[in-house]
Amino acid sequence: MQAIKLLYEGKAKKIFETQDSQLRIMEFKDDATAFNGQKKGSIHDKGKINNRVSAALFELLESSGVKTHFVKILNDRNMLVRAVEIIPLEVIVRNIVAGSMAKRFGIEEGKRLHEPVLEFSYKNDELGDPMMNRYHALALGLATREEIDYIEKTSLKVNEILRDFFASKDILLVDFKLEYGRFGDEILLADEISPDTCRFWDAKTMKKLDKDRFRRDLGDIEQAYLEILERISK
Ligand code: TMP
Repeated sequence: MQAIKLLYEGKAKKIFETQDSQLRIMEFKDDATAFNGQKKGSIHDKGKINNRVSAALFELLESSGVKTHFVKILNDRNMLVRAVEIIPLEVIVRNIVAGSMAKRFGIEEGKRLHEPVLEFSYKNDELGDPMMNRYHALALGLATREEIDYIEKTSLKVNEILRDFFASKDILLVDFKLEYGRFGDEILLADEISPDTCRFWDAKTMKKLDKDRFRRDLGDIEQAYLEILERISK
């Protein structure tokens, strides 16, 4: 399968058309941004690592009955995916308080939540991805009630599967962001699942093994991404 035309270039990935209108190629870049593009940099080999981590996690989720856009890995930085129409909602699931939730409620990072929290953001870079709830999404026509119900239910299932999987690797799944797309009559889990889009803490040392090392200038960024790939590959 070959890339024919660049369809879209985002902050961390490129999407290409292929000869098959149902399939696209997703290329993972080393570019890293934070705070809605205000902080820019590059993480050596991040694209290669995120391609492999995402592929492994999509395969794990598919084997547990979650439908995803993933078809197969093509090479170092590229995976073949189904040509979905992205729903402009970012779905965040949290198990432990961190990041914007810690800030918003004035709670210290690290507090374990009694129940997972599910949040939506409107996927819109110009507005800085503002938080919204399901009523906003419905009222603005971003998704139907059935689609939102499916997205919520699936995201909580994804959380259970990934939380257990990472726990078996001595990693705490603190929080993560998902995106979904329409593909015919189906809704597929799309985008990526990687240290760029999740918070991972080492369960013993609590060391951060994700993009917070870049956001907060903590150093050891490449090693942290590699550590995630190595642990999940065991
Ligand atoms: P937050 O605490 O900054 O809201 O982030 C929650 C989770 O979502 C965290 O795992 C990082 C991820 N995330 C993204 O994947 N993309 C984004 O643009 C943001 C802000 C967060």
